[in-house]
Parts: sequence; structure tokens; C-alpha cells
Amino acid sequence: MEKPRQKFKDIIDQASAAASKMHRDELMFLYKGVPYPVTFCSPEVFRAMESFEARSDDIILAGYPKSGTNWLTQILNDLADIHEKKTQNKQNTVDNEELEEFPYLEVGDTEKYERMKRLPSRRVIVTHLRPEYLPRSIFKNKAKILLLIRNPKDVATSFYHFTKRMAPLPSYETWDDFFEAFMTNKMAWGCYFQYLSEWNKYADDENVMAVTYEELKENRVVGVKNIAAFLGISMTEAELQSVVERSSFQSMKKNSDKTHGSFGEILFRKGGVSDWKNLFSEDQNEKMDKAFEEHMRGTKLGTKLKYEMYCKA
Ligand code: A3P
Repeated sequence: MEKPRQKFKDIIDQASAAASKMHRDELMFLYKGVPYPVTFCSPEVFRAMESFEARSDDIILAGYPKSGTNWLTQILNDLADIHEKKTQNKQNTVDNEELEEFPYLEVGDTEKYERMKRLPSRRVIVTHLRPEYLPRSIFKNKAKILLLIRNPKDVATSFYHFTKRMAPLPSYETWDDFFEAFMTNKMAWGCYFQYLSEWNKYADDENVMAVTYEELKENRVVGVKNIAAFLGISMTEAELQSVVERSSFQSMKKNSDKTHGSFGEILFRKGGVSDWKNLFSEDQNEKMDKAFEEHMRGTKLGTKLKYEMYCKA
């Protein structure tokens, strides 16, 4: 069953329309030292977010921009639907347009967190935020957190192409300019290496499960099964197959007009692994390899990313 997505499309369209009238220098603001796009986030909403009350059965998807968060959102929504049908709780059905909220926790208005109290369980909530900026109730109330990570070279590559077409984000004249900005904390939602380092502190928590983009790409059947087991959701073989089929790049791209509107044309770009090889110079490879060594070497998330396999030419 498709959940209503009108609000999702409207919020992105409004942000893009507002951003297209703004000067490049006005597109971002700093909050607690981290850059965010003004057309999606605001200090008022960040402050209101502190009142957000997490539930123990919430499904929190944490992922840095361009890690595949829209992809995993689709999988999690389908799993939540399956769970919903099993529990036969009719009032659980979020097919009511009025109940739709923008899936990213930090994007919306100051009333959003109050409205979210009306959302039936299990809520699927997405965030690009580092753990120290999330409402404490997420950890205190032991919400389940899926941490989606992707190899940093493909994240940078995907982000570069995204900034070229996404009006709310400052674009860059050249890939070299973008790379410089990516490596010096200029990206929306901050530096990816810092993101990984901070989340690594939570990697052993029992309520946190790390998933890589690459492993999902490699084997979606196993990936979806593992995620469902972590969330305590059981499925039939047919249900599993349906989740797997609906989340293929081709299916999602084909359905994107309904789910993402015109944003889908920007979002569903290549959906593959190793596109970085088309952009990175030798010098840029060296710089990123060094940064990865410094921040992630020997860490749980660093090992999970299989840097040697996915990021060495
Ligand atoms: P590319 O730009 O490399 O194609 P996010 O949703 O966090 O913004 O991430 C976007 C990236 O996820 C894009 O990567 C997009 O193509 C990819 N993606 C989206 N849906 C996907 C799917 N079903 N399978 C694989 N990759 C997908």
C-alpha cells in the first residue's frame, strides 16, 4: 500500500521554488557549527525538535545525505506496512493524508513534533543528523535505529551531482571546487567523516544496526531479511519478495513520479557502486584515503564500509 506523499512533494517543490529566487550565499545557515539549507531547516524547528518524544517501537533511519536514505525509507515503510497488517490494527493505517509528515525529522515546522504524537505506531522517521544533535528521547526510549552508511567516494560523487540540480543546495562550478568543499566541512549536514566518527560511538548499541549501501546493493533479499529481524517483523516469502522487488532501483525510478514528483528525476540518478572512478583524480584519491585513515581506521563502521574493496581503484 502506498502512503500519501503529497506533503513530501509539496515541501520539496516549495523549498526549490524559494531557493531559486535566492543568492547562492543565502542558501545555508549554521546551527551549532553545522551548515544546513535554510529552505529546509531553521533554528526554531531545531529547538522545537528537542520536545520530540520517541517511542520504543519507532524505526529511526539515520543516514548522511546521499547514502541511499530514500531507498531504505521505501523498504522500511513496506516493512512497517506488513507489520501493520499483521497486527490488524485498523486505526494504524496511515493512509490519511492529514497525518502525513515529511519523513525527515529535522525538516518541517515547529508544530510538527506535536502533530507527530497522533501518528500511529510504528513510525518510520528519517534523519541526516549526527547523534549528538538528535532528541535525547530517541536513545532514552530505546527506539530502533538503522544506521545507513555508504562508501565516502560514492557519497561525494552522488552529492556533487545532486548539488548541480537541487536548488536549495549551493552548487559548484567544478568537481574540484566541490571536492574541496566536501573535505572542509562545507556540506549541508556537515562533514561525512565527522558524521561517521560520531555515529561510530553508537555502533555497538543493541538498538542500533548499521547497514551499508553496498551490502544492500549486493543482496537485497539478505539485507531486507536482516533488517526485518532487527525490527522484529516477520514476513511470508511472498511479502519478502514484494519488498525486494518494489525497492529495486528500476522499480523505484519508474514509480518516482507518484512517490517523489519532479524531485525523482534528480534523486534517482545511477544507483550504483563505484561511480567515483569517473571523477576522482589521483590527488583526490590520496586525500580521501588519508582522511579515511585518520578518522575511521580500525573502527567498527570503518571496517564495515570495506574501504579497500569499494574505494581503492
Ligand atoms: P546516486 O546519485 O549515486 O545515483 P539519498 O536518498 O540519501 O539522497 O541517496 C540518493 C542515492 O541513492 C542516489 O545515488 C540514488 O540513485 C540512490 N538510490 C535511490 N534509490 C535506490 C535504489 N532503489 N537502489 C539503489 N540506489 C538507490
